Amino acid sequence: MDRIRIVGGNELNGTISISGAKNAALPLMIAALLTDETLILDNVPRLADVAQLQRILGNHGVDIMSAGKRPGDREYQGQTLHISAADIIDTTAPYDLVSRMRASFWVIAPLIARMHEARVSLPGGCAIGTRPVDLLILALEKLGADISIDGGYVVAKAPGGLRGADIAFPKVTVSGTHVALMAATLAKGTSVITNAACEPEIADVAACLNKMGARITGAGTPCIIVEGVARLHGARHTVLPDRIEAGTYAMAVAMTGGEVQLSGARPELLQSALDVLGEAGATVSVNNDGIRIGRNGAGLRPVQVTTAPFPGFPTDLQAQLMALMTCAGGASVITETIFENRFMHVQELARFGARISLDGDTATIRGTDKLRGAPVMATDLRASVSLVIAGLAAEGETMVNRVYHLDRGFERLEEKLSACGASIERIRD
Ligand code: EPZ
Repeated sequence: MDRIRIVGGNELNGTISISGAKNAALPLMIAALLTDETLILDNVPRLADVAQLQRILGNHGVDIMSAGKRPGDREYQGQTLHISAADIIDTTAPYDLVSRMRASFWVIAPLIARMHEARVSLPGGCAIGTRPVDLLILALEKLGADISIDGGYVVAKAPGGLRGADIAFPKVTVSGTHVALMAATLAKGTSVITNAACEPEIADVAACLNKMGARITGAGTPCIIVEGVARLHGARHTVLPDRIEAGTYAMAVAMTGGEVQLSGARPELLQSALDVLGEAGATVSVNNDGIRIGRNGAGLRPVQVTTAPFPGFPTDLQAQLMALMTCAGGASVITETIFENRFMHVQELARFGARISLDGDTATIRGTDKLRGAPVMATDLRASVSLVIAGLAAEGETMVNRVYHLDRGFERLEEKLSACGASIERIRD
């Protein structure tokens, strides 16, 4: 398994190009199942999760062509995928595929909407929590699907197709909103989704679905209205930039000092994180190419943050902020409200000499000015990058093991950071 070796202490200076958002690319690829025509997606990031989803879609009979380099392509430009679900030959998504990439469970929505049947493995839990899908099933039942659980699989049937319905989520769920939205596009009649997630990736998927002929209004707000149509057609759509990747690199620069242009980043997608970075002492400026982040010598100030659904502070940046706060001049408090077990990085950060205490869903971080490099282990996607952030500032060498977690959500991380002066390399075992 690959490892990443970092020698800390270098500032970050230069430009980092922000890739397409993983958490938009995945549902957008799944949306291709809703039509028998070709969906073309631009700016798709080259990530392990995207490759895994390509395998899962292929199992349903979907053809995916990845376009080659074109004249004038930027360095590291995202890939263009032509996805064609003309004939869905298998409506089963097997355990060995779904268990490795949870979002693949979402294929249940287009399969039941278009094929009127689906048999999808329950995804199982992961490091950050039990990750139930009860609200996704609730949404599909509201839309008229008959759902049963058989041998670890969710079996969904809707012989006459889905029917529009009112879906009121008892709690905000990104996956539930994606599933309800995609399924409702082909239902007979109108659906109203309330207490919907407002994450930008939802609005990005809705914009693509509307290009495909769906009739969706209100995406990005807590109330989404979907007027069902008989069929969807092909379209072309560009994946929006990854706000979590942008926020991650912003935290890295705040940690090391220096100044970096996050090219392609869109501030309105991560404003809450930018506000926290300003509070912590980083300089944040917006320009027509993206966001400029810097910290010139002034120390880091402690902050108090509670994660929340968009537009609140994103849970996917919680581990990265915690790493940053290990070097702040005082005590910070971070409360995690979205997932029940998203503090796996605390024990690993402690190996650098970080001083973090936990009390239920709240972590108190007492800053120190001397992190020391150490061998550490990644446990989940965002926790793993918090270890990289700590290693960039720690004295001496850090070795991050199990970097396959990193590769799921960060495209060419070590290249992007070393291009800005970090001493970081991948060791292929
Ligand atoms: C999406 O996960 C993201 N994944 C997560 O990013 C992100 O952390 C999360 O949204 C919150 O923003 C993708 O988009 C692929 P939820 P999702 O449904 O959809 C509970 C990353 O690092 N819940 O909004 O699974 C759930 O347990 C990943 O890129 C139910 O109880 O999150 C959690 O406590 C990690 N029942 C809360 O709701 C359900 O049926 C929010 O979950 C569904 C969810």
